[in-house]
Amino acid sequence: MTDYGCATGRSGGAPAAPLFAAALAFALLAWASPAGAQMTEEQLARIPAGPQPIKFSHQVHATDNQIPCQYCHVYARRSNVAGVPSVALCMGCHQFVATQLSEVKKLSEYWQKKEPIPWVRIHDVPDFVRFPHYRHVNAKNETYPNGVLCQTCHGPVDTMQVVQLADANFGLMGWCLACHLKIPGTLERKRATPEAPGSAKLMSGLRPDGRHRPNLTDCLTCHK
Ligand code: HEC
Ligand code: HEC
Ligand code: HEC
Ligand code: HEC
Ligand code: HEC
Repeated sequence: MTDYGCATGRSGGAPAAPLFAAALAFALLAWASPAGAQMTEEQLARIPAGPQPIKFSHQVHATDNQIPCQYCHVYARRSNVAGVPSVALCMGCHQFVATQLSEVKKLSEYWQKKEPIPWVRIHDVPDFVRFPHYRHVNAKNETYPNGVLCQTCHGPVDTMQVVQLADANFGLMGWCLACHLKIPGTLERKRATPEAPGSAKLMSGLRPDGRHRPNLTDCLTCHK
């Protein structure tokens, strides 16, 4: 993955459902936030710009306003990419919310021009690597019974004003393997040879839910 073309295209195609959900969320937000707590241009000016075309703060959205990560990054649990939200999803709220702010006006200009926002990509692995988000978000084993949290890999994004790499080794082969090798059964499975059903060696290849453990160290797991 080197650009966001795919994610914006797909979500842009079906604005109706996100718009409805966003409008609902907006109603809840409006209800939850105390009157007069709106952000001012001065407060906005304190948010650093980063390399992005619009000053977008995860701290303001994910923490202050409690919007769940996967409300915006909807593909994370069902596809290889997590994706960035479409302009339509943003506008579900920003047709009504903070319309007076200069950065929100920029957002509605993209909406009027029907153009995707050219977000600068921060996390990227080379195209010869296969990284499936959904396999991580839905993982189920002894170490990660409820999936791997976004923050485990991406750091404290929820409190970042500007998204940045939290770890200099992010996305390197050694970084992937360091985690994979800590998952129970990884090494045993690697060494296992075909065994009779029920044997100790074969059972080490099963997760607590009885499914086979994926092979997490083979070259072909991550390279096509
Ligand atoms: C209101 C929508 C929204 C919410 C909620 C949200 N994000 Fe984002 N996220 C974005 C947008 C827009 C971008 C692209 C601009 C940027 O990098 O700031 C982005 C970028 C990112 C990136 C960097 C992508 C890249 O280019 O490498 C990561 C990682 C990320 N978000 C993780 C999270 C996590 C984790 C949460 C929950 C704690 C979260 N996001 C909540 C909208 C959202
Ligand atoms: C569920 C509702 C919701 C969605 C969806 C949403 N926002 Fe916001 N946004 C808010 C709220 C609430 C604020 C804070 C407004 C205030 O305090 O006046 C905000 C603030 C902002 C601001 C002011 C600076 C900042 O980031 O705090 C910008 C710019 C912004 N949003 C851009 C976006 C973009 C771009 C998207 C789509 C990727 C988006 N928003 C999606 C609710 C939303
Ligand atoms: C096991 C580590 C890991 C976890 C957990 C993880 N990510 Fe990622 N994320 C990555 C890697 C690696 C990339 C670069 C992928 C690529 O270039 O194909 C990435 C890229 C991204 C991007 C850039 C766009 C894209 O889809 O490639 C976003 C946005 C993102 N992640 C958000 C999230 C969110 C939100 C969560 C939680 C729901 C999450 N990630 C969980 C490792 C992780
Ligand atoms: C923080 C820990 C962690 C990191 C970092 C991590 N992974 Fe994983 N990976 C997991 C877990 C957990 C699973 C799911 C194992 C299961 O289903 O039991 C998984 C599964 C996978 C799978 C699916 C294997 C299959 O055949 O089902 C692939 C492919 C993969 N990871 C690639 C990568 C790549 C490439 C990187 C680095 C860019 C990476 N992972 C980084 C924890 C991690
Ligand atoms: C858990 C995932 C994973 C596994 C398993 C894996 N790799 Fe990688 N590999 C990566 C990632 C991510 C990169 C790109 C980042 C980097 O260059 O370190 C990479 C990069 C490479 C490169 C390019 C290095 C460079 O400097 O350009 C080669 C060659 C390679 N891997 C060979 C292998 C071989 C051979 C195996 C099996 C013994 C293997 N990989 C197993 C994730 C993996």
